Amino acid sequence: MKALILVGGFGTRLRPLTLSVPKPIVEFANKAMILHQIEALCKIGVNEVVLAVNYRPQLMSAYLEPYAQKLGIKISYSHETTPLGTAGPLALARELLNDGQPFFVLNSDIICDFPFADLLAYHKAHGKEGTIMVTKVEEPSKYGVVVYKEEDGSIQRFVEKPQQYVGNKINAGIYIFNSSILDRIQPKPTSIEKEIFPKMAEDGQLYCMPLEGFWMDVGQPKDFLLGMGLYLNSLKQKTPEVLSSGQGIISPVLIDPTATIKPGCLIGPNVTIGPHCTVEEGARLINTTVLAGATIGKNSWVKSSIIGWESTIGSWVRMENNSVLGKDVHIADELYVNGGKILPHKSITSSIETPEIVM
Ligand code: GDD
Ligand code: MG
Repeated sequence: MKALILVGGFGTRLRPLTLSVPKPIVEFANKAMILHQIEALCKIGVNEVVLAVNYRPQLMSAYLEPYAQKLGIKISYSHETTPLGTAGPLALARELLNDGQPFFVLNSDIICDFPFADLLAYHKAHGKEGTIMVTKVEEPSKYGVVVYKEEDGSIQRFVEKPQQYVGNKINAGIYIFNSSILDRIQPKPTSIEKEIFPKMAEDGQLYCMPLEGFWMDVGQPKDFLLGMGLYLNSLKQKTPEVLSSGQGIISPVLIDPTATIKPGCLIGPNVTIGPHCTVEEGARLINTTVLAGATIGKNSWVKSSIIGWESTIGSWVRMENNSVLGKDVHIADELYVNGGKILPHKSITSSIETPEIVM
C-alpha cells in the first residue's frame, strides 16, 4: 500500500526553528515529526511513502534515506515547482498513487496514535470513495469542521475554518481514499478542504471515523508543547518503560541516552531532551523541549519553551511563556526571557521582558 504525506508550505508558524530545518524533520519527542508518521504507516504494511514537497527536498531526502533503508520502504519525492495546495499534489503524484488500491494521505504536522489499521478496515467496510478521521476540539475555528451522521459516519458538510460555529468535530488531517478521487483533481493549486471535500460530501462519497485518544496539530510553538505533553502522557499510560526515570525526574520525561544531566537538577513533567545535550547542576526544566546539542546552564529555570539545536543558556536564567530559541542562540547569565522568539545564531545579552521576535 501507498501513502502520500503533504509536506509543503514554509512552516512559518514554527519559526525560528523552521529557518534552519524543514518542519517535517524538526524533532518532536526526540524523533523527526514525519518519522512518527512513516513508522506507523510502515507497521500496517505501507511500503511506499510519497512526500509532496515544495521546499528543500534534498535536505529532507538526505535525512530520511537511512531510515527508509532501515524500515525497508521506498520514500519518493513529488516536487512541486509552485505550491499546489492540499489537493493538487495528489494529482501531481497520480502515476505513483494510482495502483488500484486505496492510499493514505496525511498532513505532516499532526500527532496522535495513528490508528491506520482501524481506518483501513472501516474504509473497506463502508465502500465509499473517502474516509477522514475526526477529533473533537474546544476551538474549532482554526480547523476544518465536519458535520456528519452519528449512525453511519456519512459526512453532510465540510466547512474549512468556519467564521461562525458549525460544530466541534474537526478534520484531523488523516485520510484514506480510493484511487477514483484522482479523477476529481487537476494538477493545479487546489484546496482539498475547500474544493474537493464539500463536493465528495454532496455526492455521498465521504465518510468519517472518530479518532480515539489524543490529537494535536503541532505546527506552532504553543501547540507543539501541548502536543508533546499529550504524547508523553500517552507513553506513560501505554509503554512507561520507554520514558526516563530516577532521582530528579518528574514523569513523563524523555531523555536521550547521549545527553548529560548533572547532579541536583529537577526535570519534568513534560520534558524531552535530545542527543548530546548538557543540563548543568541545579537546573529546573518544566514542559520544555531541548533539541540536540543544546546546553542549559547552572541553576536556570526553563518552563514552556523550545530550545533550538546547539543553543546555550547561561546560569541563573529564567525563561518561560512559549519562548523559542532558533539554532545556535546564546543567552547570557541571569537574564529573563518571556515569550521571546529568537532567530538563529543570535547572542542575547539583555532580558526580554515581554513577548517579542528578536531578529
Ligand atoms: N505539498 C504541499 N503543497 N503541501 C502543502 C501545501 C502545498 O502547497 N500547503 C500546505 N501543505 C501541507 C502542510 O505542510 C501541512 O502538512 C498540510 O498541508 C496542511 O497545511 P496546514 O497549513 O498545516 O493547514 P492547517 O493546519 O491550517 O489546516 C489543515 O489541517 C487541520 C488539522 O491540523 C486542514 O486540513 C484542516 O481542515 C485541518 O483541520
Ligand atoms: Mg497544520
